[in-house]
Amino acid sequence: MAVVAFEHVVKVFSPGTRREVRAVDDFSLQVERGELVTLLGPSGCGKTTSLRILAGFELPTSGDVYIDGEKVTFVPPQKRPTSMVFQSYGLFPHMTVFENVAYGLKVRRVPRQEIRKRVAEVLALVGLEGLEDRGVGQLSGGQQQRVALCRAIVVQPKVLLFDEPLSNLDAKLRKGTREQIRRIQKELGITSLYVTHDQAEAMSISDRIAVMNAGRLQQLGTAEEIYARPANRFVADFIGEANFLPGTVVGGEGETVRVQILGREMEVSQPGADFSPGEEVEVVVRPEAVDVLPAGEGDVDAEVLFSHYTGSVVLYALRLPDGERLEVQVANPQERGLLGVGAKVGIRLHRRSLHLLGREQ
Ligand SMILES: Nc1ncnc2c1ncn2[C@@H]1O[C@H](COP(=O)(O)OP(=O)(O)OP(=O)(O)O)[C@@H](O)[C@H]1O
Ligand SMILES: [Mg+2]
Repeated sequence: MAVVAFEHVVKVFSPGTRREVRAVDDFSLQVERGELVTLLGPSGCGKTTSLRILAGFELPTSGDVYIDGEKVTFVPPQKRPTSMVFQSYGLFPHMTVFENVAYGLKVRRVPRQEIRKRVAEVLALVGLEGLEDRGVGQLSGGQQQRVALCRAIVVQPKVLLFDEPLSNLDAKLRKGTREQIRRIQKELGITSLYVTHDQAEAMSISDRIAVMNAGRLQQLGTAEEIYARPANRFVADFIGEANFLPGTVVGGEGETVRVQILGREMEVSQPGADFSPGEEVEVVVRPEAVDVLPAGEGDVDAEVLFSHYTGSVVLYALRLPDGERLEVQVANPQERGLLGVGAKVGIRLHRRSLHLLGREQ
């Protein structure tokens, strides 16, 4: 049974006014026990609002939320078995590390001995043992965020909520802290809902990712599913880089679709494909799924429009014969040499990496 369920949740702010916003729109999602699901999407797509509805800080306009099978839509936040970790840490600045972490246990009238034991346990989990008596103002940002994590998990919530917990940390620290969050979440088996607009963070930390746009769920799946088989153009574009080439379906058997792309017929493997011959499609081509070859040796020839050298890879923008632009990525450029603007090349699309989308209206 799902530990967290959103059922057709809608949230409209300032309804009936000029400032009306449909922040969450018919949002349904289930999170299984021990799972970490990330809400991923651009700024303003309704991630924080969805999290706040689950925590009880916001009432939905319609729809319901459930925790462990119990409807909690109208239960006040302090009575819900949830804990939240915020971007801004939300620590009490005048208290010590111990007092911050112990706070939720004191409120729940847990005996003093037990509080000492549990606080020491969670601090050890994040490598902060011995810092009990420090004021939180004397800690680095990364340490403060670990105290915030301790404060959230020490009360043993059924559901842990994270709202952009790493946004205030620098890039190196972000990576280390996200690995630590994931390790602890798995060790303790706490069902978690995690919010970020950073796709790399989402892909590395999650069991499954819920991609949102304009308040709506676009796709739910593992990192690999949403990258390799995006449900629509928004997801393909938001997760990684994508080229979209026009194609026409010629035929197909089972999961293999024959498509006319770049003036050639190609076989594309597409589980669950439902296309008819003659149908116009968009072909998602990832920049790394293209071989750059000598002219005449690929599917079609192209011309280099510009190159962008980054050290580990070169990004080339190519012009195809019909004027379409294709961005490709070539790894290990030291080995292969750089191509100059105007160079003629052949390109070959990796058939197994192609993905078809129906044309959107
Ligand atoms: N209290 C509020 N009153 C009015 N509008 C709000 C309120 N809270 C959020 N909104 C609006 O609802 C929409 C969704 O906001 P939300 O904070 O959920 O987005 P988000 O996905 O968390 O974005 P970000 O990545 O920028 O944090 C936005 O258009 C926002 O302006
Ligand atoms: Mg937000």
